[in-house]
Amino acid sequence: MQFFNKINPIGIFDSGIGGLTVVKKIASFLPNENIVYFGDTARVPYGNKSNSTVIEYAIQDAAFLMKKNIKLLVVACNTVSSVAIDILKEKLDIPVIGMIEPGVKLALEKTMNNRIGVIGTYATVGNKAYTTALKKNDENVEVFEKPCPLFVPLAEEGLTKHRATELIAEEYLSGLKELDIDTLILGCTHYPILSDIIQNVMGDKVKLIDSGTAASLVVEEYLNARGLRNESHQQGSYQYYVSDLPRKFKEIAERFLGNQIDHVDKIDLETLIASGR
Ligand code: DGL
Repeated sequence: MQFFNKINPIGIFDSGIGGLTVVKKIASFLPNENIVYFGDTARVPYGNKSNSTVIEYAIQDAAFLMKKNIKLLVVACNTVSSVAIDILKEKLDIPVIGMIEPGVKLALEKTMNNRIGVIGTYATVGNKAYTTALKKNDENVEVFEKPCPLFVPLAEEGLTKHRATELIAEEYLSGLKELDIDTLILGCTHYPILSDIIQNVMGDKVKLIDSGTAASLVVEEYLNARGLRNESHQQGSYQYYVSDLPRKFKEIAERFLGNQIDHVDKIDLETLIASGR
């Protein structure tokens, strides 16, 4: 294990822009922490790629952030969390926090009838990572998973109140609604952006679980327990790196985060791939 300074940044990566929903949550719980974010915008989406490709990309993304002296790695991408978390934990000598375990714990705390829905990308749902983790924690729980791939571009296009999004949400979610679930895990970075529409379709009785919020609580607990909280009284600094078009990222990011971003750096794919070697 390396020696960490409290002021070292938290590293957060995602397949693209969606992980900013997790950055937003971590920044609100831990405003003094410095954050380095990497979004693999050149190779997004990960959610319809094979496990081996996602694992390869995840190792490169994590290796790039390791060069920034991060004290903790947050895997904001649910797709990566569902296939590569154990590999990353094994490879890296810093703590790695993914989305699945925190989301599962929070969902099990909230459910009253032990019937939980999970929505995510094709990869996340196909890997059944949430089902496996839920059943490992409580074998009596019933889990119903559904891929909702179109939610990703709808969120990126900012169609958070649009009729098209409502129609697609009805199409995706009506089956889950009939299954009498009382808790629904938003198992994808982008879905919290569409939570109003998702809640409307599911009805008030269904509690939505944002895995990013759940993971932020785990990050906070982890840093407190190890005395690794940044004790500066100043607002943390934020560095953003992407593998494609910084301008497009900046535009969507400012919408997702609700504030301005000073600067976004582009790293080229060769550098990224070399990081993983
Ligand atoms: N970040 C991905 C996730 O949370 C969604 C976008 C993608 O498919 O890459 O699963």
